[in-house]
Amino acid sequence: MNHFEYRDGRLFAEDVAIAEIAAAVGTPFYCYSTATLTRHYEAMAHALERVKGRICYAVKANSNQAVIQTLAKLGVGADVVSEGEARRALAAGIAPSEIVFSGVGKTRDEMRFAIEAGIGQFNVESIGELDVLNQVAVDLSQTATVVFRVNPDVDAQTHDKISTGRKEDKFGVDIVLAPELFQRAAEMPGIEPVGLAVHIGSQLTTLDPFREAFTRVANMVTDLRSAGHKVTCLDLGGGLGIVYDGEEPPEPTEYAAVVAETVGDLNVELTFEPGRVLVGNAGILVTSVIQVKETATKRFVVVDAAMNDFTRPTLYGAVHAAAPVNENSGSELTESEIVGPVCETGDILASNARLPALAENDLLYLKSAGAYGAVMASSYNTRLPIPEIMVNHAEFSVIRPRPSFEELLSLDHMPKWL
Ligand code: LLP
Repeated sequence: MNHFEYRDGRLFAEDVAIAEIAAAVGTPFYCYSTATLTRHYEAMAHALERVKGRICYAVKANSNQAVIQTLAKLGVGADVVSEGEARRALAAGIAPSEIVFSGVGKTRDEMRFAIEAGIGQFNVESIGELDVLNQVAVDLSQTATVVFRVNPDVDAQTHDKISTGRKEDKFGVDIVLAPELFQRAAEMPGIEPVGLAVHIGSQLTTLDPFREAFTRVANMVTDLRSAGHKVTCLDLGGGLGIVYDGEEPPEPTEYAAVVAETVGDLNVELTFEPGRVLVGNAGILVTSVIQVKETATKRFVVVDAAMNDFTRPTLYGAVHAAAPVNENSGSELTESEIVGPVCETGDILASNARLPALAENDLLYLKSAGAYGAVMASSYNTRLPIPEIMVNHAEFSVIRPRPSFEELLSLDHMPKWL
């Protein structure tokens, strides 16, 4: 459920007409709905009440500080994977103790920054990383609170590029090594091991992989305890899928039931790291038609957004539904390919979209673009990074403006010999 809907044939985000935003800021742009963010947070938080988990929002999904702060005000912590994301979460008002530092390659500088900032939990992914973190912590006369991200060797049954829990993937330590790591960490002056973490992938649309991974982790907790280790925390990652194109992902309550069934009796503090399920359907990408180009085989709708602004369709073959901002109900629908101006054949935003008659400057939008949209954009083809807009009831605010060409070009510096 989201708050983008037609009123008298015109698309609104909450109480703001999308055409009004387009007239004010130009296209293309991302538009987020506060009411939808809130609704998705509440659905997740409510479902997780039965297992008393804390939600650390995976900032990578959408790291605009206004989005983070909107969720922070509702009560989330943050899951971050770089110093940059940690700085964003802190700047948006999240307490350092509520920040989890994940990621397979934290540098010494990043560890130092995070320890000095008081980040509450480090999710360690290798023996080597544990050694370095210990050294950095000892140098600072501090102790880092650590959970070990284990690799449970479970196939998440999602897109290959976003599956992270199979043994051939780069993530986590082999789950059978957990006792050895706990033992090693217990002897380190700079480390306090408190638990395990698992994250097997993103956009999961079935519960079985979660059930399998959580069960393996639960068994390992029992083994660790029998070996005399104290295990007080489990971080179950993110990954719950959303509806893009007819998928039927589990409801948050069904996901919470699997959590209760697998780890509910362990008497541990639970952390969850949802990203997409909080922000994905809370954002759309709005774009204008530049040209409609009919060829012998296809109708191309060339728009002013492109693969550099929104890479999911190009990178993962992701399907995002597309529709006109102003419904043209009288017009016949024609199969169309929505493409951008970038000089690559892969610059396709939507294939097989069924669209009415369109003319230059007509507005279209892509649905479910709130997660992994703006954060993955680039200025390829020297296209200006596109703005982000947030709506709240009848108001809207530009939460990241479009830079000028002068600003973009000034990022390059000439060497003195030229
Ligand atoms: N925790 C960890 C350790 C992660 O690596 C991720 C996502 C999450 C949590 C959040 O997962 P979510 O709840 O959003 O599924 N760019 C890709 C998705 C990459 C996900 C990376 N890790 C896409 O557009 O589909």
